[in-house]
Amino acid sequence: MTAAPALSYDDTLHTLSEGSVRRSFDAFVDIPWDDPAYAIDKTDPRWSLPTVDALGAHPWYQALPEERRIEIGLWRQANVAKVGLQFENILIRGIMQYVFSLPNGSPEFRYLTHEATEETHHTQMFQEFVNRSGADVPGMRLLIRAASPVIPWVASIFPEWFFTMVLAGEEPIDHIQKSILRSSDELHPLLERIMQIHVAEEARHISFAHEYLQQRVPELGPVRTALLSVLYPITMRVACDLIVVPGKELTTDMGVPRKVVKDAYWRSDDAQRMLRDFFGDVRALAEETGLMNPVSRRVWKLLGIAGPTSRYRSEPVRAAA
Ligand SMILES: [Fe+2]
Ligand SMILES: [Fe+2]
Repeated sequence: MTAAPALSYDDTLHTLSEGSVRRSFDAFVDIPWDDPAYAIDKTDPRWSLPTVDALGAHPWYQALPEERRIEIGLWRQANVAKVGLQFENILIRGIMQYVFSLPNGSPEFRYLTHEATEETHHTQMFQEFVNRSGADVPGMRLLIRAASPVIPWVASIFPEWFFTMVLAGEEPIDHIQKSILRSSDELHPLLERIMQIHVAEEARHISFAHEYLQQRVPELGPVRTALLSVLYPITMRVACDLIVVPGKELTTDMGVPRKVVKDAYWRSDDAQRMLRDFFGDVRALAEETGLMNPVSRRVWKLLGIAGPTSRYRSEPVRAAA
């Protein structure tokens, strides 16, 4: 048996674009928001956080009375959706910045505008969930909300770094959503549907970011390669914290003690393992693209995100590394 020849970069982008046409979702067609089974009941125990969530796994949270677990759980899940849609909003702006100056005939133009379309639907879907949850959540921390107008410019100045940021945001969200969908916890059907749609479309987005970096990073000059090799793990770690670690409102509005938040993100041993596990795929990509060198390896280690590389993309975490 002979292996199929590897697709060229342009062919891969064409395949991804065709995938967007064949299999895409609309926030208000593909989710039965008004089906009574999809309604958000604020006493529904399915809003408790699953144990694959770092806070949900914390003994303080697990010892709470059920109604408090539900209250905090719904707030937290609404805030994760809000953070997700703010991140997607920045991403859409960066894509528009990037495609504006692409030459005619570029396959990236078609693929990336499909991606922006899908992200727009995701922002609608997540905002509708936030609105229906009744939780007035802030999403990202103030600093990053304030910095959001500047980030899309990176797409013009240093696009390989911009798509590293994209991947840095998409990987942890995708990893968490897949872990929740794979877990045995009973999910609310609304959240389950939202996550299924998101995971299905993000698979293409993550593929694109990997393909783009595999194509472009080896073409960079030595200075930009060295710079990106160090920026890459820093971006991964910073984006992960911005997306996954809740802001101070979890303490001020929801009464979760600061110490518990600190433990869950990322002081405890379990939490540190969870953090390292987010990055198996991106570590593999760094190895493949030549972004792992003695200096950057130290940076990965210092940031607490060094570890084994995935053998294939989206490999579930191996029990014993
Ligand atoms: Fe998305
Ligand atoms: Fe995405």
